Amino acid sequence: MSGGDETGVNRRALSEILDGLLAFGNDASDSFAGLRLRTLAHHFRDLFEPLDVPQLPDWALTVAASLGEEAAALDTNAAAYQIGLAYSGMLPREHRAALGVYYTPPALAARLISQATAAGVDWTRCRVLDPACGGSAFLAPVARRIVDELPGCNPRVLLENISARLRGYEIDPFGAWLSQVSLDAVLLPACRDARSSSPVLVTVCDSLERRPPPELFDLVIGNPPYGRLRLDPRQRERFKRSLFGHANVYGLFTDLALQFVRPGGVIAFVTPASFLAGEYFKNLRSLLGASAEHRLHHALHRGRRRLRPPPGAQARLPHDESPGGEG
Ligand SMILES: C[S@@+](CC[C@H](N)C(=O)[O-])C[C@H]1O[C@@H](n2cnc3c(N)ncnc32)[C@H](O)[C@@H]1O
Repeated sequence: MSGGDETGVNRRALSEILDGLLAFGNDASDSFAGLRLRTLAHHFRDLFEPLDVPQLPDWALTVAASLGEEAAALDTNAAAYQIGLAYSGMLPREHRAALGVYYTPPALAARLISQATAAGVDWTRCRVLDPACGGSAFLAPVARRIVDELPGCNPRVLLENISARLRGYEIDPFGAWLSQVSLDAVLLPACRDARSSSPVLVTVCDSLERRPPPELFDLVIGNPPYGRLRLDPRQRERFKRSLFGHANVYGLFTDLALQFVRPGGVIAFVTPASFLAGEYFKNLRSLLGASAEHRLHHALHRGRRRLRPPPGAQARLPHDESPGGEG
């Protein structure tokens, strides 16, 4: 478009169109169509007018630019992790602790994905959810894995395929944005070949408020937040089957994963080992024991103790696997 700026938008022409729409909408002021036109024109104006954001000081812009340049030299997973570290390190301590914003190193994510593979996940067809996906430690490598498993696939079909079976939920908008951008980077070659935009796979939401979709997931994977959580009566009712006394968020996410995974599917979570013992987790252990058709893969986050299945559970808990190995 002639006279366009770097985004290709000719702002003057757009402004004139919007003014025309508004005038037309005002003329038809009492009609429903007039109201719709005015609303639409206002929405469009919001879209194209510059956001009112505070200016960053020069030193912050310089740090951001050099961070971007360094990250651009890394592979997608390492770059997202480094940007995530910079971001999470700058969060106020209470906010970071309240949401449990501690991103997973790529090697640990690779190990869990290997364990999911060993548990029988079929990357050519599985539906995958990360319910705490900030930073994309799992979603981006999973997308890469799916792309690698479907060589020669028509790029448009590949994008539709991934769009239909990969999902991430995240409560923190920046973490969600970083996840989506990492996915965009992985899918860029397919998008270029298909002349299509990248599918939106990440939703900003509170996972604990979501209900399972009609078609459940084959794999629920991730590193859920940890820490005590005060529940309102409605949440306590929803998760009462796995609660005993204080609620720990990762226990709730484990219950949530059981609700979202199909029978015979796989849950692969990085968690502390505290759920293996102690009163507070006894109902969660019973639930896991009763869900015998589910196989639960835990990679120890802290300590070097070997995992043992919780009493009564027939969960298969892998051990003796080296990081990054496929075994
Ligand atoms: C331990 S971090 C893991 C992030 C990322 N999946 C990774 O492995 O690097 C936990 C993530 O859960 C997110 N989170 C916390 N509470 C949540 C909630 N109720 N719903 C969705 N996401 C939540 C945090 O913002 C954070 O990004």
